[in-house]
Amino acid sequence: MKTNSTMSKITNKIFKERRNRLLNMVSDGIFILPGMHSTKRNNDVDYEFRQNSSFWYFSGFEEPDAVMILDSKSKNQYTMFVNPYDPDMAIWVGARSGIKGIEKNFCADKGTSIEKLKEKLFEITEQHECIYYAFGDDPIIDPLITEILIERRMSSERRNKNPIQIKDPNPLINEMRLIKTKEEINLIQTAVDITEKGFLKAMEATQDGKNEFEIQAILEYEFRINGAKRNGYPSIVASGKNTCTLHYIENDSILKNSELLLIDAGAEFNYYTADITRTWPINGVFTKAQRAIYEIVLEAQKKSIEIIKPGIPISSVHQKALEIIIQGLIDLKILKDTKKNVIENKEYIKYFMHGTSHWLGLDVHDVGNYNQNNKSTLLKPGMTFTVEPGIYFGENIKNISTKYKNIGIRIEDNILVTNSGHKILSNNIPKEIVDIEKILK
Ligand code: GLY
Ligand code: MN
Ligand code: MN
Repeated sequence: MKTNSTMSKITNKIFKERRNRLLNMVSDGIFILPGMHSTKRNNDVDYEFRQNSSFWYFSGFEEPDAVMILDSKSKNQYTMFVNPYDPDMAIWVGARSGIKGIEKNFCADKGTSIEKLKEKLFEITEQHECIYYAFGDDPIIDPLITEILIERRMSSERRNKNPIQIKDPNPLINEMRLIKTKEEINLIQTAVDITEKGFLKAMEATQDGKNEFEIQAILEYEFRINGAKRNGYPSIVASGKNTCTLHYIENDSILKNSELLLIDAGAEFNYYTADITRTWPINGVFTKAQRAIYEIVLEAQKKSIEIIKPGIPISSVHQKALEIIIQGLIDLKILKDTKKNVIENKEYIKYFMHGTSHWLGLDVHDVGNYNQNNKSTLLKPGMTFTVEPGIYFGENIKNISTKYKNIGIRIEDNILVTNSGHKILSNNIPKEIVDIEKILK
């Protein structure tokens, strides 16, 4: 393993600071934050487990079925309900932290068995008039919160006790997660650097006759040996007409000489993910038509990145990319109207049907509002997001010259907003035509 995976971990001190920040955002209330459960794959086999991102953000705890309670009024501000230690489980799937482990290794003020959750929740919520809980997030906790709500409603009538209010904690949590700290930026940068290594190997390995999943294996092998235990999302390794399917993940077609290969993939490093797309010709040289489309997408991508700085609305990045793509398609006579009409009538949408940017972090499509007070969110230092314009001539496009058929091109980089402008975290991954063609040689 070439990357030292301990170098930029989120420490218990940082998890604690995050919990305190959240608690300090509210005057009265208790946060009930459930972790993820395992999901069955087939018979007695589960899907690979990954913790819920917000739950991990406040705890670093990676086991299933846990519930975190944050309560500013209690002497135990941080209680964690966990699966107890079980010697049989230790033999079959590995030791659980248990009550002692959650207190000792994850700094919980109090660890409690998850089996006691119901009775304890009634007790713990007793002192509060507000519960922060995201209804709909957890099929086991939802009915418990409903029971508490009903009980309090009845007792408030009989015993002059205030009823309880339920508030969604996500707006508060998402606001925190939207602005990345220097440790988080380091982890995203590491994820991007590992992803870069995978892309370079995938480019080198590209060859007519290989299967998409062979290229995927080479890409992801490189992720693994450089310290990324998993991907941030399933890799999209799409050749030929598959380049036009935005979230294609079958990855089982044969690469053909005159076609393109589009890879959209991201290594996940200590829970933070990259999200990179590059598109290149399988035989190493762009055809004239591929090149013409590629140049439009590349210009749209570069020009829309150029404007990124604090204070501009996130929507202006898409607007810039859109204008360049529309102009490019008009110049090629693929769009046959004025720019103004194309925008008004959304004629571009069949060629460029997705947004240009999304927040990036613990989730590939990370949390955070794109609009605030009915206006596009203004960029601030510490925000990380993608810039990924594309043009696609898939099966939905009729009456197009055959030279454009099945061309799908997307170029995606990961951007950090800095105090003075921006940094392209993925700047080392080649995207200029001359650089790509040189590698493919
Ligand atoms: N990888 C998914 C996306 O680019 O949004
Ligand atoms: Mn993306
Ligand atoms: Mn992507």
